[in-house]
Amino acid sequence: MRFDVFLTMLGGAIFVVANVHTIRKRSDFINVGVKTVIANIALLFMFYFIGNYDVFQFKYNLFYGILDGIFSMVILLVFMPLFEKIFSRTTNIKLVELSDFNNSLLKRLMLEAPGTYHHSIMTADIAEQAANVLGENSLLAMVGSYYHDIGKLKKPLYFIENQSLGYNPHDNLNPEMSRLILISHVKEGVVLAKKYNVDNEIINIIEQHHGTTIMHTFYHRSLESGLHTDVERFRYPGPKPATKIAAIIMLADSCEAACRSIDDPTSNVKRLRTNER
Ligand SMILES: [Fe+2]
Ligand SMILES: [Fe+2]
Repeated sequence: MRFDVFLTMLGGAIFVVANVHTIRKRSDFINVGVKTVIANIALLFMFYFIGNYDVFQFKYNLFYGILDGIFSMVILLVFMPLFEKIFSRTTNIKLVELSDFNNSLLKRLMLEAPGTYHHSIMTADIAEQAANVLGENSLLAMVGSYYHDIGKLKKPLYFIENQSLGYNPHDNLNPEMSRLILISHVKEGVVLAKKYNVDNEIINIIEQHHGTTIMHTFYHRSLESGLHTDVERFRYPGPKPATKIAAIIMLADSCEAACRSIDDPTSNVKRLRTNER
């Protein structure tokens, strides 16, 4: 019931909480454990010099201060998967696991929709850098991007990045059908992610990655064919991105798709450079 002991424990705990989000791999547990031990020792030394402890108490507390740092990390290492489940949290360790391309869902994306796989990698690169600049969780931005278009696995050939033979099935469909196929990739993504036990944070990103934007290509095709002229019909149902990361991924996705549609990007870069001069 001593206040100095309480302060030492509180200081150590705050230190762990402040550092624990940096954990991405197993060796980071050791780093945080060592830092916690150092923080505990520093606080104990402070109280010793203030005169709160005699030498015996100081050595006794020092022993438990060191044990505290070691055992906290061991307990966390063992029980973290359980805590993740109980509190529905996606830790960085879980994100690293989800980013493994050997897991069955990403492997399917790689083999069954290689174009979407490449698009997702490029989107992840843009989103990761944007998240870094904005001080957001770049790992979540990267992993969320890997999974954002997972719903395209249901009908990969209906998405331009997977059409290598110059054949576009939408040419033989009316814009109404195309609209339904495009909308379904968001819903299918959520269904697939749930089936493969992907975390809720990633599922929310999948659900929000098109927000309530308009499918311009098929809206214009519909206008040309005189089928439906109501633009609202060609709007994704949403929801809009609810977090900064989801918004970053939505923008990165659009940028990547826009870059892909440029016929000769190199000459555009050259032209920009010439204009700068
Ligand atoms: Fe998409
Ligand atoms: Fe996409």
